[in-house]
Amino acid sequence: MLSKRIKHKKINFGCGWDKREGYLNVDVDSNCKPDLLIKNNDYSVIPKNHFNEILANDVLEHISHTLTLSTLLDWSEFLTDNGTLHIQTSSILGVARQLTKKKGFADQLGWTVCLFGNQAHEGDFHHVGFTETTLKVHLLAAGFKIDSFKERDQWLFHVDCHKKENWMDVITENKKADDETYVTAIFNAAFGRKPDELGGQYIRNALKNKELTRKQAAKHLFQSRERLYYIASQHNM
Ligand SMILES: C[S@@+](CC[C@H](N)C(=O)[O-])C[C@H]1O[C@@H](n2cnc3c(N)ncnc32)[C@H](O)[C@@H]1O
Repeated sequence: MLSKRIKHKKINFGCGWDKREGYLNVDVDSNCKPDLLIKNNDYSVIPKNHFNEILANDVLEHISHTLTLSTLLDWSEFLTDNGTLHIQTSSILGVARQLTKKKGFADQLGWTVCLFGNQAHEGDFHHVGFTETTLKVHLLAAGFKIDSFKERDQWLFHVDCHKKENWMDVITENKKADDETYVTAIFNAAFGRKPDELGGQYIRNALKNKELTRKQAAKHLFQSRERLYYIASQHNM
C-alpha cells in the first residue's frame, strides 16, 4: 500500500513546479511530475496523523470554495498534533486595492489574472479568494491556531498556523457510544448545540442505513456553513 511507503514528514501540497527536497510533493497536474499525483480528489493514499508540516503556497484559491473547509479538515487529518501549516493565498481586497490604484490596461489585466488565475492548464483556475476574516474563520473552524498572519507583496496572505484541535477527537471519545449519543456529541462539537429535529434525524438515519460512516457524519457537520458561522460568532467575527 502506497500510504505505508510514504516516509516523508512534510507535504508540499499543490507543488506545481516548485518541488521541494524533503517534502512529499503533491499535485493534480501530471505535467509537473509530482511525487504523488492526485486524481478525482482522492487523497486516501496520504497517511493520516503522520506529517509535521504542510506547505500550501498559492493552492487554496485553486480549490472550490465549497471545499475550502473540507480541504483544511483533510490537511488537519494528515498532520500530527501541533503539526504546522504554512499557507500563501490571494487577498481579494489586496487585488482590489491594486486595481483601484493602477489604471493602465496592462496593470488592470495583470491584476485581473492574479484574481482569477492563469487558467493555462487543469488546476490553474482560481475558484475563490480570501479576506483576512474569511481565511481566519476557515482556519479556526478546522482547528488551527494562527501563529502569524501577514499580507505580503500587496495581495498575498502568508499564514503560519498549527493543529491545535483535532476535529476527529469526538469520534474517538465516543467510540463506544450508541448512535443517538454519538449524533448529540458531533452536533455539540461542531456547532455547540443539540441536534435539531430534522438534522439529527437525517444523520441518525444515514448512520443506521450505513449511508454515512461515523467519520463521514462528523465531517458532514464540521465542513458545513453552520460550522463557519458558529466559529465566526465565537470569535466575534
Ligand atoms: C499557482 S500553482 C502553485 C504551485 C506552487 N505551490 C508554487 O508556489 O509555485 C497551484 C498548484 O495547485 C495545484 N492544484 C490545484 N488544485 C489542487 C488540488 N485539489 N490538490 C492538489 N493540488 C492542486 C495546481 O495544479 C497547481 O500546480
